Amino acid sequence: ELRRIPHPPYRVPLVGDAVGTNLRTPLQDSLRVGRRLGPIFRRKGFGKEIVFVWGAGLTGELADESRFAKHVGLGVANLRPVAGDGLFTAYNHEPNWQLAHDVLAPGFSREAMEGYHAMMLGVAARLTDRWDAEQAAGRAVDVPGDMTKLTLETIARTGFGHDFASFERARPHPFVTAMVGALSYAQRLNVVPAPVAPMLMRTATRRNRADVAYLNRTVDAVVETRLHGPAGDGDLLDRMLETAHPETGEHLTPENVRRQVITFLIAGHETTSGALSFALHHLAQHPEIAARARAEVDRVWGDTPEPAYDQVARLRYVRRVLDESLRLWPTAPAFAREAREDTVLGGVHPMRRGAWALVLMPLLHRDPDAWGPDTERFDPDRFEPAAVRARPAHTFKPFGTGARACIGRQFALHEATLVLGLLLRRYELLPDPAYRLRVAERLTLMPEGLTLNLRRRSPAP
Ligand code: HEM
Repeated sequence: ELRRIPHPPYRVPLVGDAVGTNLRTPLQDSLRVGRRLGPIFRRKGFGKEIVFVWGAGLTGELADESRFAKHVGLGVANLRPVAGDGLFTAYNHEPNWQLAHDVLAPGFSREAMEGYHAMMLGVAARLTDRWDAEQAAGRAVDVPGDMTKLTLETIARTGFGHDFASFERARPHPFVTAMVGALSYAQRLNVVPAPVAPMLMRTATRRNRADVAYLNRTVDAVVETRLHGPAGDGDLLDRMLETAHPETGEHLTPENVRRQVITFLIAGHETTSGALSFALHHLAQHPEIAARARAEVDRVWGDTPEPAYDQVARLRYVRRVLDESLRLWPTAPAFAREAREDTVLGGVHPMRRGAWALVLMPLLHRDPDAWGPDTERFDPDRFEPAAVRARPAHTFKPFGTGARACIGRQFALHEATLVLGLLLRRYELLPDPAYRLRVAERLTLMPEGLTLNLRRRSPAP
């Protein structure tokens, strides 16, 4: 059955198509192969065969919740030792998924988001303090490093009342180092053949054990502080500890709370940091787009020192800049879907119940059938309402799909739009002329080595 799906021409016993694979950039390697082979293809490495999908039509089928569901595989499954049955890594059949989903969903309602807004502003002010100082000293800013500080502080404070003091540190918080270690390790497990992994990765495995232990300890301390200290103000942690399921009356167990806190600290900042970093890269590369976005911020926010909650969603063009950044580099770049029953995908690929395929979002988001020619061009107008309506459904999926789609989507969009607005209003972004975009992979995507020079706008609001 698989014979009908194209694969690379040269296959070597054991290593399969992994020849030529850059172990540090497996995703971008698959993008190159996929461009050549078309909207459904397969690659084999070390005995595992993966079916990749990126055509808009096929993705639409995979998004059909009556036929397919989330598959916990590859990188997501490799994170199970870290995140267990937390929301992101839970198997569909695990009862803790529905329980935690129902308990935590109100933490992402409009009312809850409004409650986070002031804290988000507070964290953003730490960032602009730092950038003001860097600018005054004539230094370039480390964009991914500082965006990671910003987004980690934001989720830690809004979700858990915790302050990592990221902006007071010269080096990343050890939580970030341990997390990046755990994510990179999970990615490497995909590309190292299982039989030799224990041998090849002995040192890495030991490091990973230490990283996971550090993550657990950090989270346990956050929970302890809450249990024995002052109550929160109804944040995510309060919900996890106190809220009973509205129908069954069940509570999350302490072990599950630990898994959820780790999940939210990781899922809640790494991808948003990448999204902000890519957006800033594109804005710096396209001064005319930055000028248009800045004009919108000036118009909508006027000279209010701090924008109100409602003024953020009104930055329509800034939001399109973010969408267009997530189109080109969706920072959680793939999701897996499994067949609920035996079925045939696209009329060509028979799948048994449980068989799965991986959707490659960077190619889906460049499918010329949906996006026209010239899909490499950065153009926020692709997200004008009329253009969106004219496109088929399921052609833009940066937050995944269906019941297991991102619970933090509104949180991320509000935070990122707010921060882009604040930065555009305050600075002009000057790229390093020598910089060429390099995309680093650690399950998520990040523009590696991106720095920008800043010029304060005058008069600065
Ligand atoms: C799930 C992307 C921000 C929490 C997902 C999925 C994607 C995604 C693609 C589905 C993965 C799959 O199908 O396997 C993103 C992107 C973000 C972002 C691109 C930022 C630009 C956030 C934030 C939070 C969050 C800010 C929390 C505050 C989660 C959780 C899940 C999830 C808990 C699992 C949901 C479930 O299965 O029930 N995200 N995310 N994400 N995301 Fe996000």
